[in-house]
Amino acid sequence: MHFTLNIWRQPNPNTNGEMVSYQLDQVSPDSSFLEMLDLLNEKLLEQGEDPVAFDHDCREGICGSCAMTINGIPPQKETTACQLYMRHFNDGDTITIEPWRAKPFPVIKDLVVDRAAFDELIQAGGFITARTGSAPEANETPIPKAVADEAMDAAACIACGACVATCKNASAMLFVGAKNAHLNRLPQGQPEKEQRVLNMIETMDRLGFGNCSNFGECQAVCPKGITLDVIAKLNRDYAIAQVRRFLSPKTQR
Ligand code: SF4
Ligand code: FES
Repeated sequence: MHFTLNIWRQPNPNTNGEMVSYQLDQVSPDSSFLEMLDLLNEKLLEQGEDPVAFDHDCREGICGSCAMTINGIPPQKETTACQLYMRHFNDGDTITIEPWRAKPFPVIKDLVVDRAAFDELIQAGGFITARTGSAPEANETPIPKAVADEAMDAAACIACGACVATCKNASAMLFVGAKNAHLNRLPQGQPEKEQRVLNMIETMDRLGFGNCSNFGECQAVCPKGITLDVIAKLNRDYAIAQVRRFLSPKTQR
């Protein structure tokens, strides 16, 4: 297959970037999108040019590293870039490849963005506190199947950032909602439930993520099928936590 690739090239965070066009031949329809970029990079290296920087790790749709926007939107529905195959395109297509575009995710180089803001959000509340020691007896904490399913569905979030990149407000509500729905539903997440939601939302605001205005673009592009209902749960938990903080401020923080 033959492709014209329009790729965002930016040498570092302090230099303006630009779209650069490349021609690429002999792409196997069975190669993944990242393998296609590998092929381009081999060609660029042979020509003595700087290869295109892009993030990747697992190449199995698990780690969320391969963040990039393809033809204006994150890749195919419920698919990461590494799991997108070139047969999805037509021979001769022009493909436009850009980094995530969101203020909290500044470009480091080419397609690589700094997603440390997500790490800060996780540090704000995306964890539970558990005593160390011997492994607890699994049956000591019974979890109803419906709750376990709900938590596991939310836990599918791989922190890729597609929801933020596609939202016109650069909102991280789907990501935070997924972490909240994952941990706040489980018994292990109950002790920190209210502080978790307060801390994560306040951190989200401080880091410059926007709010949700119910367009649903995040849900449409999420590679793991996280749905807007996690945002509804987040808003409900946040409202309850705020009321409790107002009624008993000394028990919070
Ligand atoms: Fe990625 Fe979906 Fe998680 Fe957003 S909610 S970070 S799009 S997996
Ligand atoms: Fe890990 Fe794509 S490289 S999800």
